[in-house]
Amino acid sequence: MRPREIRVVERLQPAPDCVELVCEFPEDEGPQSGQFYMLSVGDGRDTYLPRPFSFYRVFSPRRLSFLFRVVGPGTRFLAGLRPRDRLQAMGPLGRGFPLPDGPERAVLVAGGVGVPPLWSLARSLLGLGCEVTALLGARTRSAVLGRPELEALGIQVLTATDDGSMGHRGPVTELLGGIEADGLYACGPEGMLRAVRDIAAARPLPRTYLALEAAMACGYGICLGCAVERAQPDPALGAYGTYARVCREGPVFRWDEVRI
Ligand SMILES: Cc1cc2nc3c(=O)[nH]c(=O)nc-3n(C[C@H](O)[C@H](O)[C@H](O)COP(=O)(O)OP(=O)(O)OC[C@H]3O[C@@H](n4cnc5c(N)ncnc54)[C@H](O)[C@@H]3O)c2cc1C
Ligand code: FES
Repeated sequence: MRPREIRVVERLQPAPDCVELVCEFPEDEGPQSGQFYMLSVGDGRDTYLPRPFSFYRVFSPRRLSFLFRVVGPGTRFLAGLRPRDRLQAMGPLGRGFPLPDGPERAVLVAGGVGVPPLWSLARSLLGLGCEVTALLGARTRSAVLGRPELEALGIQVLTATDDGSMGHRGPVTELLGGIEADGLYACGPEGMLRAVRDIAAARPLPRTYLALEAAMACGYGICLGCAVERAQPDPALGAYGTYARVCREGPVFRWDEVRI
């Protein structure tokens, strides 16, 4: 797969340190929720390698957005882009969220900047007749991302903040206590994913899927830089069967597939 040139058509700033770039692709895209793109972030020393980003909203087959928090040189470069600027995108990459066979009670859990892969998932689940609830967690009110965008889809959205400035005070996973679910779909910090995994194991809730993040160099399975330990080694893969590549076998894994 080769990188393609995409064009920024709109730049939004939903939070002080977060930017959403709406981008025009050269042809129709049909990524699966949870898949990602490697985006070029300039050609400086610190930003030689592209960075992985889930796609966020889908405005038309050629128009997708990316939502990110500025944490380092790559995201700083992206945040500096303006409408008409161009960048390279390789993707869609990886394995996204598997959809249920029919209607279910689906609960989406996002922590921090975990909402991007869940917006299009919410839309797909609604299309299948699912009852969808989204739980959004963040440090504080201004860091809660994606609430109006998810509410615009017509789903119930509950929030939790560490300081209690919006919604429940405490970890977002505490909201799961009072909610019935057939399917759980989560993206966020590792601690939150571990809590979701533990809930999946305790209920039990086999249809629980976690979108993992890992540092990535290539994004398509060659460098092995993104490896995570499998819960059960795959004997068919010999010495490599102990690990799974987040970029290739993931980034979405069932809760019991990998050790996090
Ligand atoms: C499949 C996938 C999808 C992603 N989707 C999004 C998204 O939609 N929005 C978004 O904001 N970010 C997303 N990320 C994370 C994003 O790739 C990193 O934030 C970005 O690469 C940071 O680049 P940088 O050059 O700005 O910072 P760097 O200098 O590379 O890193 C700055 C700081 O962030 C930490 N960091 C870097 N990458 C990650 C990571 N993957 N997870 C946790 N901490 C990290 C570093 O350890 C360092 O402390 C995704 C990552 C993966 C693997
Ligand atoms: S990023 Fe290179 S193998 Fe996954």
